[in-house]
Amino acid sequence: MSLARLTQLKNEVAACTRCGLCKTRTNVVFGEGNPRARLMFIGEGPGRDEDLLGRPFVGAAGLLLDKMMASIGFNRNTVYIANIVKCRPPGNRDPQPDEAAACIGYLRSQVAIIKPKIIVCLGRISARYILGTDIRITRDRGVWHEVKGFWILPTYHPAALLRNEALKKDAWRDLLAIRAKYDEICSGGANES
Ligand code: URA
Ligand code: SF4
Repeated sequence: MSLARLTQLKNEVAACTRCGLCKTRTNVVFGEGNPRARLMFIGEGPGRDEDLLGRPFVGAAGLLLDKMMASIGFNRNTVYIANIVKCRPPGNRDPQPDEAAACIGYLRSQVAIIKPKIIVCLGRISARYILGTDIRITRDRGVWHEVKGFWILPTYHPAALLRNEALKKDAWRDLLAIRAKYDEICSGGANES
């Protein structure tokens, strides 16, 4: 059962020392949401608020993510939210390639357990580690990639939308595209929103 397997994985990650980020973290931020979600959002890594609380997207960017989800009829009980790295990079620097490489197996396990139909990459770092290093978010956002049965969409990170309001128009397009894809491929499922 997904919940039991996720809980087991969460306990394993809570003790992880596979990369140097373990030395400066307060809490591991495993991820949260519906273990059977069809829609999964993947960010970059915990910031200060997330590190303190041990939960993903609970700071300013997280509040915006909540609003973005709500605008298309989703919430934390109907989606799953995780990050590329589970421990906070000091000072909110980008995760380094060796840190992402050490950690991404956990994300792959989460995806394998939850089996979402739609994966939304929030921002450049997320999109690069999931879709490949040549992704440029301003150029490539809003384009669906069908990979191994998953529908994957890169879009702006909510923190970018807070810095630059002008990006919100395209972000809204992407949200509507997510809702439309969900209605197209996920209707009739067990955890409809
Ligand atoms: N930014 C992220 O990428 N992930 C979080 O969990 C919070 C902020
Ligand atoms: Fe382990 Fe990932 Fe934390 Fe590094 S970031 S210590 S790999 S859980």
